[in-house]
Amino acid sequence: MKLMFRPLLFHLLLFCASQTLGVNIQTLPEVNSEGVIQTELEKTVSLVCQPDVGHDTQADEELVWLRNGAAVSLTEGNKKGRSSVCVTPIIYEDNGATFTCHLRKNATVTASVTLNVTYPPQLSGSEEVVVEEEAMLVLQCDILANPPVSSVSWAFNGSEVDLLSGGFSLTNDGFTSQLTANRVKKSLQEGTYHCTTKSPIYGIDSKQFIVTVTEKTVKIPLMPFIAGVVVVFFTALLAVASWWNKITKCCK
Ligand SMILES: *[C@@H]1O[C@H](CO)[C@@H](O)[C@H](O)[C@H]1NC(C)=O
Ligand SMILES: *[C@@H]1O[C@H](CO)[C@@H](O)[C@H](O)[C@H]1NC(C)=O
Ligand SMILES: *[C@@H]1O[C@H](CO)[C@@H](O)[C@H](O)[C@H]1NC(C)=O
Repeated sequence: MKLMFRPLLFHLLLFCASQTLGVNIQTLPEVNSEGVIQTELEKTVSLVCQPDVGHDTQADEELVWLRNGAAVSLTEGNKKGRSSVCVTPIIYEDNGATFTCHLRKNATVTASVTLNVTYPPQLSGSEEVVVEEEAMLVLQCDILANPPVSSVSWAFNGSEVDLLSGGFSLTNDGFTSQLTANRVKKSLQEGTYHCTTKSPIYGIDSKQFIVTVTEKTVKIPLMPFIAGVVVVFFTALLAVASWWNKITKCCK
């Protein structure tokens, strides 16, 4: 059955082959006209490479896969005539990765696809922050996303943070948005903060910070304190020892 089927498949492939020589990659999900596959974290992308059968390319050509130029190791049965690569689960590092398939005998017969992994910023939940009066308050939100977020905003007690009158400064390097207050005052900075991002495709994400400002503590230098305790302890020990000597002496 298998033997009969094989020549049939071979002829079918010959029949379907276009005049162009090369290899083609079939993908799931589908590749767009720019050779880009749209996907998301945790998803699966499957790639199947096959030679286009022509006058000097056979249906059982050996194929090679590269990920960003580095060879992908393939099992023995997954090299000749048809080679598939499954990328699962999709991770951050797969964003922008290019998968290339070529004939082993001729690397110029090649095809490539690139992954576009979209993800929202990693913002959620609530964090409790305790800071001493007059210390520095630093709140950070991880805003890295693909596509990049279109806006980041900070709110304090429900209304937008007033940088000037609130004594805050704000920085944003594309990865982290950071709100800083240099010398914290309980009356000015204690309360609830939110950082909120807007993504063109994921909508709104937000993280909450509950900031408590505590009284300034007077720092006791620890080493002299311990040394003092040790001295007191040994002085007491010596006192007990000499008292014991006196007692034992007069008992003789
Ligand atoms: C490799 O393939 C290209 C394109 O089909 C062809 O022009 C070239 O002659 C081939 N080289 C070898 C060494 O077969
Ligand atoms: C990746 O996908 C996003 C969202 O659809 C799009 O805005 C962006 O241009 C894409 N990037 C590339 C390189 O295709
Ligand atoms: C912010 O809200 C908290 C809790 O409701 C309140 O204790 C604090 O005084 C408020 N801070 C300012 C500056 O309004």
